Amino acid sequence: MNLSINNSHISLCFYKEENLNDFIDLFTDEELCKYMAGGAFELEKDAEKLFYYLQNISFLENSKRKAYGVFIEKKLIGHFETVLENNELEIIYLLKKNFWGKGIMFKIISYFNEQNLEYITARVHPNNTNSTKLLEKFTIAKKTLTYFNEQKVLKYKLSKKMANNFEEHWNKAYLNTEQKKLGWYEENAAPTLKLIEKTNLEKHSRILNVGAGTSKLISSLLEKGYNNIIVNDISKIALNKLKEQVGEINIEYIQDDLTKPTILTNINKVDLWNDRAVLHFFKEKEAIETYFNLLKKLVKVNAYVILSEFALDGAAKCCGLDLKRYSLEMFTEQLGENFEIKEHFYYNFRNPNGDLRKYIYALFKRIN
Ligand SMILES: C[S@@+](CC[C@H](N)C(=O)[O-])C[C@H]1O[C@@H](n2cnc3c(N)ncnc32)[C@H](O)[C@@H]1O
Repeated sequence: MNLSINNSHISLCFYKEENLNDFIDLFTDEELCKYMAGGAFELEKDAEKLFYYLQNISFLENSKRKAYGVFIEKKLIGHFETVLENNELEIIYLLKKNFWGKGIMFKIISYFNEQNLEYITARVHPNNTNSTKLLEKFTIAKKTLTYFNEQKVLKYKLSKKMANNFEEHWNKAYLNTEQKKLGWYEENAAPTLKLIEKTNLEKHSRILNVGAGTSKLISSLLEKGYNNIIVNDISKIALNKLKEQVGEINIEYIQDDLTKPTILTNINKVDLWNDRAVLHFFKEKEAIETYFNLLKKLVKVNAYVILSEFALDGAAKCCGLDLKRYSLEMFTEQLGENFEIKEHFYYNFRNPNGDLRKYIYALFKRIN
């Protein structure tokens, strides 16, 4: 099985003899052993025994247990195992520490979670916060404390009701509609550019455009000489289309969900966070909190934030989704006292259907 994350190709393959030493290293890694649910391997010979057992059983056609090495190119970076019992698929996984936080396990679990199974479960060491956070992305509070090999573990039951629904929604929007007919298509991102000019940012400043879609803003920024742009979106289709239009020079592309970020949480801080018509899609308190926590984590002191969302008296829906509309006070409350308002205005955007859409644009500076 092959998956790709940003530009890395991840594959899951049954183990071959040549993987034995890497497998032993993985299963006896001190850091990983601390978090193994059900106890760690202390001896290389036990890991070796497991390797041969898993290797043999995985190739058996009717085997309920399958074990895969997780590879980037030919390098073993992790282990993924499935045990199928009564239409319940239990997953067991390990990933080398320097590959944590890159969205690799999220992608692999998403793949299995989309298969037609009754449900997926996973047992996790209670102190393994990285893994519990990851599984909580798939779970609606279905976790129980239980015992495995006499050790306390958390057992998660994964749900299909997860971020991927939104990913699919946006992918479909970009696949099925010509760019110029998208309800938010703006030939000239003038209102945003006006606020960016006010910041007097240097050309090499790190500009993060969240939920950028295929926005024309990116080509305008490149034309103006900005050369350190980070573009994010939940939709891979949108990012690929944008890449076709503006290329990859001076731009980093990051596919990630702002309400369940995995890759964005690990990037370097930015000088400008720009959002046009993204935040207003987040309706749940938890999603909004995650968005603002990420913003606060990534925006440097003395850096800027531009939020441009539908105003309180603006339309209630966009792209078939209900919206949470915003006032200046609502932005200010979410950002807190470390952010100072520099400028704001209301803007009537005429969308490609000719309808008016009332936005509020606001520029904030982080002062603390
Ligand atoms: C209305 S469009 C605006 C696109 C762009 N900002 C513009 O002004 O043209 C909303 C964008 O947010 C993206 N988006 C929606 N939910 C997201 C999420 N949870 N994380 C990241 N991007 C998201 C969508 O894929 C879409 O590209």
